[in-house]
Amino acid sequence: MSPTTAIPSYREQSPEVAARFERLRQREVTLEVRRLGKVFDSSRGRVTALEDVSFSVHHREFTCVIGPSGCGKSTLVRILAGLETKTSGEVLVNGESVSGPGPDRGMVFQGYTLFPWLSVKQNVMFGLRMSRHSEFAAEREAREWIALVGLSKFENAYPHQLSGGMKQRVAIARALANQPRVLFMDEPFGALDAQTRGQMQSYLLDIWKNVDITIVFITHDLDEAVFLSDRILVLDANPGRFREMVEVPVPRPRSMEQMFDPTFLAARKHIESLIHPPAKDGGESREAPVMRLAKPDPDVV
Ligand SMILES: Nc1ncnc2c1ncn2[C@@H]1O[C@H](COP(=O)(O)OP(=O)(O)OP(=O)(O)O)[C@@H](O)[C@H]1O
Ligand SMILES: [Mg+2]
Repeated sequence: MSPTTAIPSYREQSPEVAARFERLRQREVTLEVRRLGKVFDSSRGRVTALEDVSFSVHHREFTCVIGPSGCGKSTLVRILAGLETKTSGEVLVNGESVSGPGPDRGMVFQGYTLFPWLSVKQNVMFGLRMSRHSEFAAEREAREWIALVGLSKFENAYPHQLSGGMKQRVAIARALANQPRVLFMDEPFGALDAQTRGQMQSYLLDIWKNVDITIVFITHDLDEAVFLSDRILVLDANPGRFREMVEVPVPRPRSMEQMFDPTFLAARKHIESLIHPPAKDGGESREAPVMRLAKPDPDVV
């Protein structure tokens, strides 16, 4: 199994956090990815999106996946959710091999995926009806999930009457209503403004605290990754490969104020150095830009 690394020296500085990671490691493995590979055959030729990616996630762990654009993050979660086929390797959820979508895995995407012709309640009831709940039971359960995401007053509203953040809360309720073991989230807050995004991150941590769920969350945003996760899977690009699994030593419960703590900043810096390693030659080999749209102007800098 691929190694987990730590922010330098945090184990000595925070024995409580180190002990928490020790306990997390003792938990059962919910998701195991072994030597996963994905090659797309497209009109542009063969694209190796993922190569030899291995990692595991423990029960109720919050794992973020981060890496440069195009490194295969979406492909990875789509395969894990069973929405995309793999070329090689194996994916196990609770020890069972995954080969297609299943009720043990839920997914929330960046784009708003609610059915526009259904109310909030009907959207959340959708999967419950499919799983042969009676109408009465489906409605009762849907109400509970809607209350959990704080939208009881809006259960009869339609998606176009909701803000972006509210829509994503409904999408989370809809995914959780099917009681999956793992929730995959692909940049779910990527389209939201910074303030709403921060609120949604706190909401999500609250939900995670209250629901028996293991979360794998894709993001571009380093602060979001450090704020939310226990560990961060860093992928390299071209092809998408395992770079590091980094333990985030920021104590829980998390709050926005921690974003200025030295531990938070050290974790952020470490992840940043993995994604954007400093140029070995000091960047001198960078080519001069071919195009200059305006002459240099000392007043326009
Ligand atoms: N259906 C497809 N057919 C061909 N190539 C694909 C397909 N889907 C993804 N790819 C390629 O696989 C690689 C990984 O894409 P993917 O969307 O998984 O990256 P990503 O890390 O999610 O990117 P971003 O950060 O921009 O969301 C890219 O080179 C992409 O062009
Ligand atoms: Mg993506």
